[in-house]
Amino acid sequence: MRGIKMGIAAAALAFAATSAQAADITIKFSHVVAENTPKGKMANKFAELVHERLGDRVEVEVYPNSQLFGDNKVLEAMALGDVQLAAPSLSKFGKYTSKLQVFDLPFLFKDMKAVEKFQQGPKGQELLHSMEDKGFIGLGYLHNGMKQLSASQPLIEPADADGLKFRIMSSDVLAAQFEAVQAVPLKKPFSEVFTLLQTKAIDGQENTWSNIYSKKFFEVQDHITESNHGVLDYLVVTSADFWNGLPDDIRPVIKKSLDEAIAYGNKISMEKAEADKKAIAESGRTTIHELTDEQRAAWVESMKPVWKQFEGDIGKDLIDAAVASNG
Ligand code: SIN
Repeated sequence: MRGIKMGIAAAALAFAATSAQAADITIKFSHVVAENTPKGKMANKFAELVHERLGDRVEVEVYPNSQLFGDNKVLEAMALGDVQLAAPSLSKFGKYTSKLQVFDLPFLFKDMKAVEKFQQGPKGQELLHSMEDKGFIGLGYLHNGMKQLSASQPLIEPADADGLKFRIMSSDVLAAQFEAVQAVPLKKPFSEVFTLLQTKAIDGQENTWSNIYSKKFFEVQDHITESNHGVLDYLVVTSADFWNGLPDDIRPVIKKSLDEAIAYGNKISMEKAEADKKAIAESGRTTIHELTDEQRAAWVESMKPVWKQFEGDIGKDLIDAAVASNG
């Protein structure tokens, strides 16, 4: 009898566990960068906040360093329900919308303050919804920072890039940007960049201080030009099916946690850029070149025709709004 009672209790416990399991929500957050970057830290902070607020009801699993999906696959995986949250670079949405390409136009934003102003303004907020017809919802923008050029040789004048192979993210605007200085752009996943540079299969790349530092690109590139020629920021994205299917008492808590984690990531992004640049300079592994106003103007002049080239795809209204954010 006692045995039967215990059996019933065990079965009840097992049932409770199964029910709890069924009520649980798992959010897989996949990204490609190191944990010690604005995105890595933001994702971990988000997981912490959700755990504090929702306990066992929602679990956030963070997969950094392309462990789960590379950025080129993550949106397909999201559409299939294999991942619920990601924050790909704004340059990686070209298959789904041409509008976000505005962020790739070279020398469009004068600094991160201008980027923030544009993102938080009406046009930037509109862009969060630019892929809803494809089943994706933009939940917010996350900063990384301004991009720098790195190469196996000094890049001081635009002619220095002539004939060099540069890895780029999967963006036609970025391809046009390098073609404008007679360089050869190659679209490759982030996870391959270090090896491509190390083996000299490519000559250079463009990236932020935090990515150049955390992925050790500076150890295999003799020269970095502080060009600040473009922005590398992220769209925190989810699938409409997942988002709309969340229970009504859970969705606002997740959104609040995400907003706070993004604010934290954005706050540390500038400090990280400075600290990582300093660490790279102090490593003595590479030479950092600053451009004179005249040298920078020559890069602007060479690359700016790209704006006109993509005006039809992006929309003049968006480009004008981005330019206005510099004021
Ligand atoms: C990232 O910061 O998420 C990756 C950027 C890149 O692909 O260069």
